Amino acid sequence: MRIETERLILREFHENDWPAMLAYWKNPLYGRYNPELADPESFVRDLVTRFVTAQAEQPRSARQLAIVDPASGQMIGTCGIRINDPVQREGNIGYELDPDVWGCGYATEATSAILRFSFEELGLHRVWAECVADNTGSVRVLEKLGLRREAHFREHRWFRDRWWDTRIYAILDHEWREHPPVVGSPLAATGVESRTFGRADQRCQTIRHDSN
Ligand SMILES: CC(C)(COP(=O)(O)OP(=O)(O)OC[C@H]1O[C@@H](n2cnc3c(N)ncnc32)[C@H](O)[C@@H]1OP(=O)(O)O)[C@@H](O)C(=O)NCCC(=O)NCCS
Repeated sequence: MRIETERLILREFHENDWPAMLAYWKNPLYGRYNPELADPESFVRDLVTRFVTAQAEQPRSARQLAIVDPASGQMIGTCGIRINDPVQREGNIGYELDPDVWGCGYATEATSAILRFSFEELGLHRVWAECVADNTGSVRVLEKLGLRREAHFREHRWFRDRWWDTRIYAILDHEWREHPPVVGSPLAATGVESRTFGRADQRCQTIRHDSN
């Protein structure tokens, strides 16, 4: 599976993607709203192996793709959809970007492509996401994509020595069809009136990565 958007390539994971992923997982900015890990390298290696193994599932329930900068081939994040209940045609999305390229609209662009795939190719009826309520960047990505807040759970997760509120956001297939597509997404190329997100500054045009 491979999806091309205006600025990004979403492709299947390879076993050798783990060092690029680990490099940004080690950035304290990245981990702020995630539980602390005792052994990040083992965790990331196992995760990438799980993403690769899932590619052979029949039927496939998890599609987690690497987000790649087309110019350099560098992996800069991941996004995906997991189908929790095929009968109910429901799935949940997840996304993450290297902090070096936050605020460029890449998470929104990549996740928009995943939503389009989920509704148009997989025929899902409802797509939802859970996020930490304080994670403003993630909340904003979901809102820009047209997901609605359905729940706010108080003190729902315990990590980093405190309780965190979490929220559930969701969008239905007919709401997706009515929502203006995001610039950079495959839908935007159809000429349907679209909304522009992300800034075209130099940092966003030159995807950087320090793998050391
Ligand atoms: C959440 C995450 C994926 C967003 O990635 P991104 O590429 O920066 O997202 P985008 O650029 O598409 O959109 C981010 C939006 O949030 C806004 N934003 C980010 N931080 C913000 C803050 N502290 N306060 C207000 N707005 C904020 C940005 O301005 C942007 O909105 P805009 O386009 O209206 O200006 C990224 O922060 C990340 O990888 N975090 C760690 C992993 C994670 O939390 N994943 C989500 C799990 S639910």
